Amino acid sequence: MNLILMGLPGAGKGTQAEQIVDTYHVPHISTGDMFRAAIKNETALGLEAKAYMDKGDLVPDEVTNGIVKERLAEADTENGFLLDGFPRTLNQAHALEEILKDLNKKLDAVVYISVNKDILMQRLTGRIICRSCGATYHKINKPPVVEGTCDRCGGHDFYQRDDDKPETVENRISVNLELTEPLLDFYKERNVLYTVNGEEDVKDVFKNVQNIIENAK
Ligand code: AP5
Ligand code: ZN
Repeated sequence: MNLILMGLPGAGKGTQAEQIVDTYHVPHISTGDMFRAAIKNETALGLEAKAYMDKGDLVPDEVTNGIVKERLAEADTENGFLLDGFPRTLNQAHALEEILKDLNKKLDAVVYISVNKDILMQRLTGRIICRSCGATYHKINKPPVVEGTCDRCGGHDFYQRDDDKPETVENRISVNLELTEPLLDFYKERNVLYTVNGEEDVKDVFKNVQNIIENAK
């Protein structure tokens, strides 16, 4: 199953990706996670990406296309792959077509998680992440089952992302909002676009995502 998860910041891409990966054992290729890892490791890529991410802007296409190309080529894609947060521009979508052509692969589905803009701000400013395993929670909507303990790994240390400050969140949403419509049209034309209502409960959204995956396989 070769899948793309699309959605505005806070739509639930990372949350759904966790469940997809646990169920279908495909590599999770998240450009945001890759940039954050590079920042943590203080690489040249991290240094470049940080300047854009701190403002909520997109990292330039050449850089982003390059890391995805590299990651897709080396990933174990026997069961497929899951792209999360890429592509975000038409340039990236065209680059991905070339990358997949070279690897002799095709896309099965693009799942757009649709959430109203007003809800996104509340989701992002309340998001907390487990420092040990990266599992995503929300202080109000999705707290860990046992308070202060990660459901997935038992860790006790949670943090908030630097770019989840209200002023950065607003820019992230508006930057992405503008780019979404043309991308949706691009994938509609290729007959691979599916939309799920991302305002439902996490588990209901996942049920709908799973239906799409099972039917598109
Ligand atoms: P990235 O890390 O991809 O961030 P994003 O797109 O802004 O998306 P998020 O990770 O913030 O949200 P999400 O949709 O994963 O939501 P989540 O599941 O966590 O990118 C970060 C930055 O990197 C970008 O700003 C850019 O600078 C750069 N970058 C990345 N990709 C790039 C690219 N292709 N090109 C250029 N630059 C790029 O959920 C959010 C919260 O809501 C959580 O608290 C969660 O618990 C809660 N929640 C989730 N689902 C539900 C639900 N159904 N109901 C209630 N609450 C829910
Ligand atoms: Zn954890």
